[in-house]
Amino acid sequence: MWPYPKVVAHRGGGKLAPENTLAGLHCGIEHGFHAVEFDVMLARDGVPVVMHDPFLGRTIPGSGKVSDYDAVELVAMDAGNWFAPRFMGEPVPLYTQFADACRAGGVWMNVEIKPAPGFEAETGRVVATLTQAMFGLQIAADDPLQVPLFSSFSTLALAAAQLAAPDIPRALLVNDPPAGWLEQAKTLGAVAIHANHQKLTRQFARQVKQAGFGLFCYTVNDPLRARELLGWGVDALCTDRIDIIGADFAG
Ligand code: G3P
Ligand code: MG
Repeated sequence: MWPYPKVVAHRGGGKLAPENTLAGLHCGIEHGFHAVEFDVMLARDGVPVVMHDPFLGRTIPGSGKVSDYDAVELVAMDAGNWFAPRFMGEPVPLYTQFADACRAGGVWMNVEIKPAPGFEAETGRVVATLTQAMFGLQIAADDPLQVPLFSSFSTLALAAAQLAAPDIPRALLVNDPPAGWLEQAKTLGAVAIHANHQKLTRQFARQVKQAGFGLFCYTVNDPLRARELLGWGVDALCTDRIDIIGADFAG
């Protein structure tokens, strides 16, 4: 059984506000969302920040790699103006800051571990260790809604997270499901497969469910498609369109 919310705001709170920012999270909360997916990677000094791209230039001004900057430099960067001038000055959040805000807002977290190339195991280890320290009591109490769910495309990151914090649940992210997905998911002790809905077939959905995994789809922005996927037995989905696929969409 899927113990988590069925509709999750993507990239920190949907796309009505800048992705992976506190403004985005609060926008999601204002729209009634109590579940969020967001992306985490390491700054140069090993501090995790909430960020999707490994390079500057799209959501924060400048150029070069995110991993070439310390966290203190990244949090001073403007992650809002690219989206709209009214968000100018919106900072890049630290992971711990964003997780605290989720906790304060009663928001369940799907933490996508998004390592920069070459930092896969380190990112998994650091994020898992920090999460264990922050959520130790909730993890011990085994209340799924109080504990983040990790996901990653990187099996190295997930394996490192498993080693560092075995009791924090993990999900394997897949785009085109690799031939060995089932073995990988079992080896990683994954509870779910997070699949690209554009690549998802009914047959793959059935295989995932028959193997006993939860099935989560990204990123579904069309309500008709969302209904179809739920009809296929998909347990949950994330969306950018928090305005048309609401938190209670799946009933
Ligand atoms: O975690 C699901 C989804 O966020 C994966 O794609 O590129 O938006 O992080 P992306
Ligand atoms: Mg993501």
